[in-house]
Amino acid sequence: MTRVFVPDDAAALSMGADKVASALKAEADKRNLNIEIIRNGSRGLLYLEPLVEVETSAGRVAYGPVAVKDAASLFEADFLNGGKHRLGHGLTEEIDYLKKQERLTFARCGIIDPLSVAEYKAHGGFAGLAAALKKSGADICKDVTESGLRGRGGAGFPTGIKWKTVHDARADQKYVCCNADEGDSGTFADRMLMEGDPFTLIEGMTIAGIATGATQGYVYIRSEYPHAIAKMKQAIAVLLAAGFLGDNIQGSGKSFALAVRTGAGAYICGEETSMLESLEGKRGMVRPKPPIPALEGLFGKPTVINNVLSFAAVPDILSHGAEFYRNYGMGRSRGTLPFQLAGNIRQGGLVEKAFGITLRQLLEDFGGGTFSGRPARAIQVGGPLGSYVPASQFDMAMDYETFAANGAMVGHGGIVVFDDTVDMARQARFAMEFCAIESCGKCTPCRIGAVRGVEVIDRIIAGVERDKNLIVLDDLCQTMTEGSLCAMGGLTPMPVQSAVKHFPEDFDRPPVAKAAE
Ligand SMILES: Cc1cc2nc3c(=O)[nH]c(=O)nc-3n(C[C@H](O)[C@H](O)[C@H](O)COP(=O)(O)O)c2cc1C
Ligand code: SF4
Repeated sequence: MTRVFVPDDAAALSMGADKVASALKAEADKRNLNIEIIRNGSRGLLYLEPLVEVETSAGRVAYGPVAVKDAASLFEADFLNGGKHRLGHGLTEEIDYLKKQERLTFARCGIIDPLSVAEYKAHGGFAGLAAALKKSGADICKDVTESGLRGRGGAGFPTGIKWKTVHDARADQKYVCCNADEGDSGTFADRMLMEGDPFTLIEGMTIAGIATGATQGYVYIRSEYPHAIAKMKQAIAVLLAAGFLGDNIQGSGKSFALAVRTGAGAYICGEETSMLESLEGKRGMVRPKPPIPALEGLFGKPTVINNVLSFAAVPDILSHGAEFYRNYGMGRSRGTLPFQLAGNIRQGGLVEKAFGITLRQLLEDFGGGTFSGRPARAIQVGGPLGSYVPASQFDMAMDYETFAANGAMVGHGGIVVFDDTVDMARQARFAMEFCAIESCGKCTPCRIGAVRGVEVIDRIIAGVERDKNLIVLDDLCQTMTEGSLCAMGGLTPMPVQSAVKHFPEDFDRPPVAKAAE
């Protein structure tokens, strides 16, 4: 029986993957052909979704983007044997976009049946857990520290050091919490992994539990991710039944329980202390630090909080060794980062590469330039709180320190491209407005500052006392940066000030004679 892969990743579903799967099955039935349709995760070539693959003796052959109307012609072209078709891309592994990547975290995503333990194991799954079960908690923390892994959620804090703090803390109960709130604009890597390879995340969290002595874990997922929520729940049930979760994991005497919790989709609930409040059933409000969550986190207990991608990087580190992971990357940014290409880009999708790749390489070599075909003018990197990088800096290497030195941040690896029709003054206004809407309201610089920020930028856009209002805006940004309780208010000035600095001409509106206020 020929195996045909049709992703059930949310991006593919949004492009009609369910209907395509049904159409292919119906067409096969009509022709008395025996096919098995596997619902895999996405390969990350979102511009080709739904990307249908056929297993042939030469390897998997890709066709996309496939629509229902293409089903009959695919059969006529003998696609079940990799036949030529206008939507054909040849062997999937040979597609340039994939071939040039360095996939560690996403090595299995889109390849295996996401809920098959046998396939997961056949592709190296649970080797990290097996290695961890033979080590002491302190040694696991040491491996993770030596790998150079830094938090992929945004702040880039060394993961091993965080784990060691929880390991060293004394408590009757400790927790492991996965931050899958993924609120950054243009990002989807967490979702894609949870839908396409959930066992990798669970394996990473289980290793964190074993390393630190935490026996209960939670995955906090935004409600806008119903497919990821469902897949994670199914994955947990499968692994419980297979003895990879729960009591006495694989006869080791170690236990780790895991549950999914759903957030209501507020951006601030991605901030770790706010997420803890939400997990405790309260409104998502930021907690002052100290105490740090590693010492007093969920329900006041020592808690590991990491992003999906941080946990998912760990199994490889344990199975291949810290050195293996460290060998990727540059400077203090070690390993790979799954970059997410979005916005005005021809070939949007997921690109996992070692740190050190430049923005231009991501935009041109992978993204194929802008979707509109016009020149790219700015790229916002690292979500809505990230800087707008001008074209003159597109050759900057993707590295935490290089970006910080240039007033920008890598964050969660979100890359949102804008062409030369963008109005950067309006983008600056948008950053302030976003903060005003999403602020948790706990501290004044953010709650009031963001609202005033919108007003000041509105005056600049209207051409009212431009020079004076630019000074006010700068002063306001400084207050927010220095006085905000968390990075929501603290980083909102980053996109605003980058827009003013790199695109001053967009703020040079014709003056009006009389002030509007
Ligand atoms: C406003 C705001 C939103 C955030 N949203 C997320 C998010 O959606 N996902 C995430 O992993 N981290 C997010 N973070 C960062 C977390 O606070 C925290 O640093 C992270 O979850 C720690 O995990 P890591 O060390 O693996 O990155 C956010 C931070 C702020 C200030
Ligand atoms: S900076 Fe904004 S989001 Fe953060 S605590 Fe203050 S009001 Fe809340």
